Formats: sequence, structure tokens, C-alpha cells
Amino acid sequence: MIKLAPVITIDGPSGSGKSVLSKSLSKYLKWFNLESGIIYRIFACLFLKKNGLISKNNLLSLLNDLDNYFIYKNGMIYNFITKEFSKKYIISKEVTNIASKLSTISYVRKNLLIKQRLFRKKPGLIANGRDMGTVVFPDAIIKIFLKATLKQRVYRRMYELKNKGFNINFKNILFQIQKRDNRDINRKYSPLKPANNAIIIDSSNMNCTEVFKLVIKYIKKNKYFK
Ligand code: DC
Repeated sequence: MIKLAPVITIDGPSGSGKSVLSKSLSKYLKWFNLESGIIYRIFACLFLKKNGLISKNNLLSLLNDLDNYFIYKNGMIYNFITKEFSKKYIISKEVTNIASKLSTISYVRKNLLIKQRLFRKKPGLIANGRDMGTVVFPDAIIKIFLKATLKQRVYRRMYELKNKGFNINFKNILFQIQKRDNRDINRKYSPLKPANNAIIIDSSNMNCTEVFKLVIKYIKKNKYFK
């Protein structure tokens, strides 16, 4: 029997600290890291580049084009190619909004699900997003669900955007995050929710190092690592 590489999933709403935790765990364990939100964002960039229409034919053809933005090796995906779009553009309001809208469409999600699973390779994968533990990797060995108060998440997003040179204000970011939370939680396909067996961590009053250390404790207790 072929043993699949182990996966640790980190899900949660925007600004809950998924990316930072995922990067530090991948560095610590020397495992691969999948930031699934970037796939939705590159897809949104492509959509905007082609001045797209939300029609099934158009989106299916863009999903084919998306293949050119991955590095494949032995049938698996090793990385994204994002050079064409600047980091600042990828996290811009316009791209964020389109990514959120396109992510509600079932055939888009089904297609991207296959691509996300191709990131799973040995020695292991840390995957972060909204439906990693519930839909994409339901057999993950550890599932973390990060949450934090809306206010904290707004401050974190403001800090990130300010560092990238965006002009921002609290009310605006609050409104955008609330809109995105609503879409993510209430969409019909793969809504944002903790998996039944997820470890739920409220990071509102914790810094990145504290969250990391807590997750390492769970990892050390897990039978895979014994
Ligand atoms: O994590 P992020 O903010 O970069 O994600 C951008 C958008 O992509 C988010 O609004 C919803 C969508 N997304 C998703 O639906 N499922 C995922 N696993 C990851 C992201």
C-alpha cells in the first residue's frame, strides 16, 4: 500500500495568523508549505488580466491557463510562479475581492482541489486555508483551526497592508474583512468551519511565537512524531 505523505492543516478566517504559523511550522519540520489562498489569488489575477467574465466557459479556460503558474515535478506541484504579479498587487483590495467571489463557485473549487492535493509530498505538508482540514486533506494527522476577534484581525491586516505601502483605514478594513468572513462562512461549497476533530486555538491575545509554541506541544504529543 502506498503511504501518503502526512499533512498538518491550518484553517481560519483572514487575519487569524495562518500564514505565519504555517511558514514557521514548515521551517521547523522541514516540510513543504501550501498557502492555498495564493492559488485563489493567482486565479483572480488571471481573471482580471483577461478582463474576465464570470461565465463557465471563460472560467474553465482560465483554470487551464492556471497550470502554467505551477512548477510540476514527477506529477506533483512544487511551487507557484507569481513573478508576473507583484506581491502588492496579489494582496490588493481588487484581487482579494475577486478571489473571494470566485472561491464560491463549485467547479472552480473542484478544479483547485485537485491542484492543491498535488502539493502533498514527502516528508510532509503544512497546508493553510479555509477548507484544508474539512475538504482538501480530511485525513490530516493534525488539524488546527485558528480564530481571533474581528478587531484583532483588522489590526493585523492593517499592519500587513501598511507595511506594503497601502493607505488604509480601520473602518474600511473592518468592512472588507466582515464581507469576506460572511462569504467564506456562508458559501454553499466548502464553507469556512473547523473540522470535527480540529484543535481550536483563539490567537486574539497571543503573539506568533506563543501560537507556534502551543502547536509544537500538540505536534510532540501526536503519535506520528513518537
Ligand atoms: O487566505 P487568503 O486571504 O489569501 O485567501 C484569499 C481568498 O481565497 C479568500 O477570501 C477565500 C479564498 N480561499 C478559499 O476559499 N479557500 C481556501 N482554502 C483558501 C482561500
